[in-house]
Amino acid sequence: MSITILGIESSCDDTSAAVIADGILRSNVISSQKVHEAYGGVVPELASRAHQQNILPTVSESLRQAGIDMKSVDAIAFTRGPGLLGSLLVGTSFAKGLALAAGVPLIDVNHLHAHILSHFIRTEERQDVPEFPFICLLISGGNSQIVVVRSPFDMEIVGRTIDDAAGEAFDKCAKVMGLPYPGGPHIDRLASQGNADAFRFSRPKIPGFDYSFSGLKTSFLYTLRDGVKVDPDFIDRNKADLAASLQSTIITILLDKLEKAVDRYSVTSVAIGGGVSANSGVRNAVADFCARRGIKAWIPPRSFTTDNAAMVAMAGYFKFQRKEFCPLSSPPFARVEI
Ligand code: KG4
Repeated sequence: MSITILGIESSCDDTSAAVIADGILRSNVISSQKVHEAYGGVVPELASRAHQQNILPTVSESLRQAGIDMKSVDAIAFTRGPGLLGSLLVGTSFAKGLALAAGVPLIDVNHLHAHILSHFIRTEERQDVPEFPFICLLISGGNSQIVVVRSPFDMEIVGRTIDDAAGEAFDKCAKVMGLPYPGGPHIDRLASQGNADAFRFSRPKIPGFDYSFSGLKTSFLYTLRDGVKVDPDFIDRNKADLAASLQSTIITILLDKLEKAVDRYSVTSVAIGGGVSANSGVRNAVADFCARRGIKAWIPPRSFTTDNAAMVAMAGYFKFQRKEFCPLSSPPFARVEI
């Protein structure tokens, strides 16, 4: 039996809809919100309003690009959380209304599960998918986790951040350097022109597989200060070196715990996911580490690293096969671990 899933994602500031048929991607439409750029961060109320404006055209376009209409959709998968509650409410309510009108079941998806399961999306170019078990380094704006993935339904978080996420470290340090939001891609670009050994920032010393990035953030801020104020001339003169040193410290912190987890759980493949997995340095470092160890690295296409509905539809496709549907009464959730 052929299975067609419509996925809807609205957890933060990207409205996205995608169609997956039998595990193969048919469309993935993402409408990003520019309105937040002026504020240096996502403004939740503006995000909800933009989702309301974007959701209908985004879903229509995803069906059009897949060459289907609602009659061919077997179930609607939607991101139920975690994320911004107002944003999630828009996608959740829309998915419920559409499922009710079309007479198809609803599937609730955990956004973090979806990031991990994005590795199972097959496209024309990408037919291989990971074998279980593997370790996923899940690094986004809100999370930094090491997850042991034993099946699409059995994921164990063995390491997590105890304060800031890796993406926050990129974004907050970029903000004090006067770079636009989100700062991660700007640091990535500048880092390629700088000397990673120019500055030394502090690294956490915490046990186990957990992460911490707040000490790094503080030591970065101290480096930029002249007395009590941030010194704009110093930043200007050293932009590329600051970015390169920051990025390399974040990568060292990420890889240190990842390597320990690979040893402890003796997996033969490692995947990365989440917005920060778009970072060139992170991608190279993980690929190099895996090559050194003779294990397989799953580096996602950049289009699947940031928020997208393709991964939501994929997670929905797995749940559909186990008939794991959710009632219309299921509310969205802002925070939860997988
Ligand atoms: O997973 P994601 O799209 O969203 C949420 O966490 O909601 O991740 C967004 C994060 C931001 O912190 C952004 O700066 C970071 O991903 N990011 C990057 C790069 N592209 C996006 N960080 C470093 N280098 C990049 N190229």
